Amino acid sequence: MKFYLAPMEGITGYIFRNAVNAGFGQGIDTYFTPFIEPHLQKKNLKHRELQDILPENNAGIRLVPQILTNSAEAFLYLEEELLPYGYRELNLNLGCPSPTVTAKGRGAGLLQHPDELDRMLDGIFSKTRCAVSVKTRIGFSDPAEWPALLDIFSSYPLKELIIHVRVRNEFYSGTPHHDAFIYALKNCPHPLCYNGDITDTAGYLELMRNFEENADGRLPDAVMIGRGILTDPTLIRRLSALTAAEPECRDGDISLRSSGISREPNARLTKEEIRLFTDTLFDGYCKVLSGETPVLHKMKEFWTWLIRNFPDHEKLLKNIVKAKNFHEYRAAVDTILK
Ligand SMILES: Cc1cc2nc3c(=O)[nH]c(=O)nc-3n(C[C@H](O)[C@H](O)[C@H](O)COP(=O)(O)O)c2cc1C
Repeated sequence: MKFYLAPMEGITGYIFRNAVNAGFGQGIDTYFTPFIEPHLQKKNLKHRELQDILPENNAGIRLVPQILTNSAEAFLYLEEELLPYGYRELNLNLGCPSPTVTAKGRGAGLLQHPDELDRMLDGIFSKTRCAVSVKTRIGFSDPAEWPALLDIFSSYPLKELIIHVRVRNEFYSGTPHHDAFIYALKNCPHPLCYNGDITDTAGYLELMRNFEENADGRLPDAVMIGRGILTDPTLIRRLSALTAAEPECRDGDISLRSSGISREPNARLTKEEIRLFTDTLFDGYCKVLSGETPVLHKMKEFWTWLIRNFPDHEKLLKNIVKAKNFHEYRAAVDTILK
């Protein structure tokens, strides 16, 4: 099983990726950039986008740039800009649910127009020099859209299909449609990556057991995790250790692994790891942002996720959120980690 860190716009830029990789990189096969929108008129990547993909800012990290567009021409244009930096794999975003994106027929918005989607994929795959994977949702407003969309994806030589098992109108809440992933396991020839709501080892094992039992023994080739890592950055380390801990398992024999929860390596998130992680993020953002306010803004966002590891977390978070300068921020962090 391969494990991927999900792209999250505004969060998983190179400073975050490097901090995760330094402290918790064990088991993470691939990182994805937050989406980059091609600008056909402007000839270059924006400064921020360029910094994010520069190989020297991603040392030791396997990185796949993600492109958000509904135009094959724009995709291929950005591909040309990325090739000189050594990128040979790209990901197409068909999942973004944001109204400003979907209104322009991009991200999950394109799922409403299967003919256009088909045309775009045809345009991309007839010319691309890269391996191209797709990250999609299972429809725009109704899971019943999924079989027809999957037929389209199955007819192109995708490197991999990453599926967030919700429709666009569900955004990131509600119960994930696991049956849609099972349908893909049974009907799609491409390597498949599961994405959606994996937050702990027990849930992961339960999910794999469900797939194994209901998809004729086929399991995903990879799992992508987003918010679960923001709350507990050790999650992929623990999941990969759990899988690797039982090498005698036959490939796909989750029933054996599932009994291993109590044998899970003792590698839960510690306060020391949180300290090191947040200090690394803090130092990284201090180097690229000017002034205390934008750095505090970033750190407050990370703490809204990390704080869930602590009892009484609402009260503790208040002190972080109220911090108006670095001094107050450090005092609030010390209170949490004392
Ligand atoms: C704040 C935020 C930003 C996101 N930005 C992107 C993005 O740039 N590209 C993308 O494909 N998905 C993006 N996503 C979706 C995630 O990659 C992932 O599919 C989603 O969080 C579900 O996975 P999870 O349940 O493991 O978090 C974003 C999600 C969140 C919460």
